[in-house]
Amino acid sequence: MAVASFLSLKPLVLLLGFLLCGLVPGVSSQDSPFLLAEFEKWISDHGRVYESDREKSERFSIFKANYEYIQEKNREPGLTYTLGLNEFADLTNDEFVARYTGALRPTDADATVPAEPFEFDNLRVPASIDWRTYGAVTPVKNQGSCGSCWAFSAVAAIEGAVKIKKGTLLSLSEQELVDCVTTCYKCQGGRADNAFQWVKTNGGITTEANYAYSATNGFCNANLISYHAASITGYAYVPSYNETALMYAVAMQPVSVSLDASSSSFQFYSGGIYTGPCDGTINHAVTFIGYGVDSKGMKYWILKNSWGTTWGATGYMYIQKDVYPEGTRGLCGLAIEPSYPIASSSASA
Ligand SMILES: *[C@@H]1O[C@H](CO)[C@@H](O)[C@H](O)[C@H]1NC(C)=O
Repeated sequence: MAVASFLSLKPLVLLLGFLLCGLVPGVSSQDSPFLLAEFEKWISDHGRVYESDREKSERFSIFKANYEYIQEKNREPGLTYTLGLNEFADLTNDEFVARYTGALRPTDADATVPAEPFEFDNLRVPASIDWRTYGAVTPVKNQGSCGSCWAFSAVAAIEGAVKIKKGTLLSLSEQELVDCVTTCYKCQGGRADNAFQWVKTNGGITTEANYAYSATNGFCNANLISYHAASITGYAYVPSYNETALMYAVAMQPVSVSLDASSSSFQFYSGGIYTGPCDGTINHAVTFIGYGVDSKGMKYWILKNSWGTTWGATGYMYIQKDVYPEGTRGLCGLAIEPSYPIASSSASA
C-alpha cells in the first residue's frame, strides 16, 4: 500500500516540480522536483501560507539555500551535532536574527534595583544536574515573531527558583514583562536582569494563564499586574567570564544566560552537542537548566530556548561547556553576563 501511494504521488510531485520550475530562477531542472517536493512537505508540516506565487518562489530560493547548507554541514566529519529543517527554513539568517532573538548588549544595563552578591554552596555542586528531573522546568514555550527572548529567559529562571524554594512549579507570564518592564523594549529586545528588577519592584508576577502571551507590543495591564502568583527578593550576577562560577549557579537553580544565537548553525540546530561557529556578540537570551558530560567526556550545558519544540532537541540545546580557558567568554559568549533571580522560601506569594 505504501508502495502504491508512493507510485501514484510521484508523477504529481514531478508535475508540480515542472510547473513551478518556470517561476523559480536559478533552479536546475535536476534537483528541483526533489527539493520542491521537500518544500511542499515542509509547507504543509509548518502550515505556511504564501500570499503569491512570487513570494512562494522567493521563499523557495531561501529554502533551497538553507537545505543545501544543512546537508553540507551534516556531512562535516566529526561534527558533534546535527542540523535539520525546522520552522525557520524559509527565512534568511538576517530575517531569523531580526525576528527571533532580542537580547540587548551588556552595556545597555539600566539598574533600578541593585544586584545581590553572588553566593553559592560549594558542597552542593554535583558532576551533572538536569532541573527537568526535579520538576523545576515548565514545558518549552514559543516567543513567536517577537524579540522577547529576554522575558522568556527571565520567566524560566523565576519558575525554577520558585519551584526549588517553594515546591510549586507555576507557568508564569512573559507578556506581563513584555508589556510592563519600562527598562526593556518589548518585542524589540530587552534584558533578563531588568525583568528581575521589575518583578521585585512590582512585588511579584502573575501566571501565564492570567496574563496570556500574545507576541505583540501590548499595554501594561494595571489590573493584572496586581496578581502575584510568585515573587522574588532580588537577583544576582554570576561572575563574568567564569564557567566554574556559572556551574555553581546552575547547580543551585536555572540561570538566565545571554549569548550569540545568530549563526545559521544555531538557527537549524536539531540535536547533539553544539560547538559553534558563533562569536560573543550577544543577541539572544535563554535559560541554562543543567549541565553534564557525555560518554566521550564532552561537557555541555542544557539550554532551554523559547522557539517551540520543533527547534533543537525538542526545544532544548546541548551547548559545549568549558571550551575556552577560564577568564574568557565561553562558547557563543555564554559566560559574559549570566544572572539569576533570588526566591525566598519565606517570602509571601
Ligand atoms: C571563578 O569563580 C569561582 C567561584 O566563584 C572562583 O572560585 C574562581 O576563583 C573564579 N575564577 C576566576 C578566574 O576568577
